[in-house]
Amino acid sequence: MRNYTEEINRRRTFAIISHPDAGKTTLTEKFLLYGGAINLAGSVKGKATARHAVSDWMEIEKERGISVTSSVLQFEYDGYCINILDTPGHQDFSEDTYRTLMAADSAVMVIDASKGVEAQTRKLFKVCGMRGIPIFTFINKLDRDANDTFELLDDIEKELGIATCPVNWPIGSGKAFQGVYDREKKCVIAYSDTEKGTKEGKTTEVPVEDEAHLRSLLGEEAADKLLGEIELLDGASAEFDLEAVRAGKLTPVCFGSALTNFGVEIFLQHFLHMTTMPLPRKADIGIIEPTEHDFSAFVFKIQANMNKAHRDRIAFMRICSGKFDASMEVHHVQGNKVMRLSQPQQIMADERKILAEAYAGDIIGVFDPGIFSIGDTLCMPKEKFCYEGIPTFAPEHFARVKQVDTMKRKQFVKGIEQIAQEGAIQIFQEFNTGMEEIIVGVVGVLQFDVLKYRLENEYNVEIRLENLPYEHIRWIENKEEVDLAKLTGTSDMKKVKDMKGNPLLLFVNSWSIGMTLDRNPGLKLAEFSRN
Ligand code: G4P
Repeated sequence: MRNYTEEINRRRTFAIISHPDAGKTTLTEKFLLYGGAINLAGSVKGKATARHAVSDWMEIEKERGISVTSSVLQFEYDGYCINILDTPGHQDFSEDTYRTLMAADSAVMVIDASKGVEAQTRKLFKVCGMRGIPIFTFINKLDRDANDTFELLDDIEKELGIATCPVNWPIGSGKAFQGVYDREKKCVIAYSDTEKGTKEGKTTEVPVEDEAHLRSLLGEEAADKLLGEIELLDGASAEFDLEAVRAGKLTPVCFGSALTNFGVEIFLQHFLHMTTMPLPRKADIGIIEPTEHDFSAFVFKIQANMNKAHRDRIAFMRICSGKFDASMEVHHVQGNKVMRLSQPQQIMADERKILAEAYAGDIIGVFDPGIFSIGDTLCMPKEKFCYEGIPTFAPEHFARVKQVDTMKRKQFVKGIEQIAQEGAIQIFQEFNTGMEEIIVGVVGVLQFDVLKYRLENEYNVEIRLENLPYEHIRWIENKEEVDLAKLTGTSDMKKVKDMKGNPLLLFVNSWSIGMTLDRNPGLKLAEFSRN
């Protein structure tokens, strides 16, 4: 039996980020395979089928064959208890994707070796950067023709502004892919065509010192190239520095092919050695260390209507300290109530299981009768503190909401406010008017459909959405110092306010933002809000 501290120390909670199709699902699946959590590849996703198994909650998901919600997977490997937070991609990209990163202690960034850094990775990376969490890079698809390795690393450094430190180095790519060179062990790990979906096949390890063997294994040309690259690399790349990795300033990079199962276990092992146990978190009473306090958690996501018949919601919380036990009474700080969390559950790839206990680092989902909001803190009644709030991220798509039947005003306002409270959408009003005109902002366009669908199905209200040309929104950081009436922006700028009355500005393009800043010296604009 492990004791309490050991349980917390062995937890590793991370999010996987990537641009769609870089191989995030395939990599996750291989991790689960090594951990013995699944026996067969294809269990996490067989696009249409298993994605449903992950989260078969909303009709809209079924209709479109995509998952709107992000899920959590837990598995064991080499004594570690690992929680993977999946960040939804494609068009189901939403604010939830960003919030999920708030619950993780590190991130794994998957990059397609033939594409380099892509748009969605850039966005998610920004949020990781904001928190300064460690980022580990897996460059995938080496079994296909890849970009030059130095260029790939250069791309990460330039695009994302983070130094890279290759843990290993690929030998060729595509048909000529022969394996990786392990920089620490100073040996070549050769790639043998491993069978799809099974554990890693037998690999051969040859020390580079044994040059004759190396040349016979790789061939003269590839061996020459590798030896040249090693020399260059040892001279040019950043020194490995664990402190810098943990501060999110240096990313260790591994290469491989998730599909053919090469390099995945090597990556997992390096990653687990370098990443951290659950990180301390900031609260109003100071820093909360995971092992020094009793149970505490914060809500980072609310999932509505998992069971349509009951109109229920599940609040997902990240445990930040201590041990959770289903029988205990906890304090909901924002609601100022002591309660038992009902039906605590863990949402796994293909099932939900009721939990008896969980530890700092774990994610639990609890039944929410409509009392929780994103960012709420739960802790023990005797402690009473409050975690730092989760920021509100800037939506990138905006639409004006028109009610088709104006008689149903009350249901409409109730519905849209509830959906906004869950954090699926953000709502704004014209600066000088009330709820007559509502503008809705979303991070991913699918949320517009979700809003329309839910208002119709749950609140019996039909709406029409008129797309607006705005692409950027900015909070006014120094709102006390700014006279909004006198603020002069570009002609296409729009002044709005959020539900809490905070003033915001909408812009059609980034040029207008720059122009507005130029015209109003002293104005400070922010891309996210902590209010
Ligand atoms: P995502 O979650 O990041 O969106 O990516 P996913 O794992 O779904 O992978 C996207 C596609 O890339 C899939 O092919 C997958 O099989 C393929 N893939 C993933 N890793 C590798 C790799 O290391 N090498 C190669 N060659 N391909 C890889 P698909 O045809 O779109 O889907 P499927 O029918 O194979 O599931």
